[in-house]
Amino acid sequence: MLHMLVAGIAGLVVLGSGIASAQDAAAIDRGQKVYAAQKCFVCHAVAGQGNKKGALDGMAATLSADELRLWITDAPEMAKKAKADRKPAMKAYTALTKEELDELVAYLQSLKK
Ligand code: HEC
Repeated sequence: MLHMLVAGIAGLVVLGSGIASAQDAAAIDRGQKVYAAQKCFVCHAVAGQGNKKGALDGMAATLSADELRLWITDAPEMAKKAKADRKPAMKAYTALTKEELDELVAYLQSLKK
């Protein structure tokens, strides 16, 4: 009886993480579309595609989700803090919806070096 209970719970946990990663994959996919639609590649590169002066691969290893979010919504302030002076400077993307912002951050976090 206990066996079945343990197996049942383990099964639920596996099922649960499967659903979560499918949702993550969908969010990352939509984030990639936001990245393309906003033309971030004009100044940034992912996997060698785009402007190589601003590679974004592996960014999540150095920047937290909150920091990534702030870069998107308030780049001028973040650039000042980071003393980043590459030109042309990044503007603040204030017209994105909360969903688009979350998806874009999920996408950036998914990029490995
Ligand atoms: C006009 C050029 C330009 C565009 C367009 C642009 N950025 Fe940037 N971005 C920069 C510059 C310049 C920096 C400062 C760091 C550097 O020199 O790469 C920066 C920094 C960042 C950082 C912090 C990276 C780091 O090296 O610390 C992130 C994350 C980022 N941008 C994401 C985006 C995303 C997402 C978009 C599209 C929504 C975007 N950027 C569009 C110019 C741009």
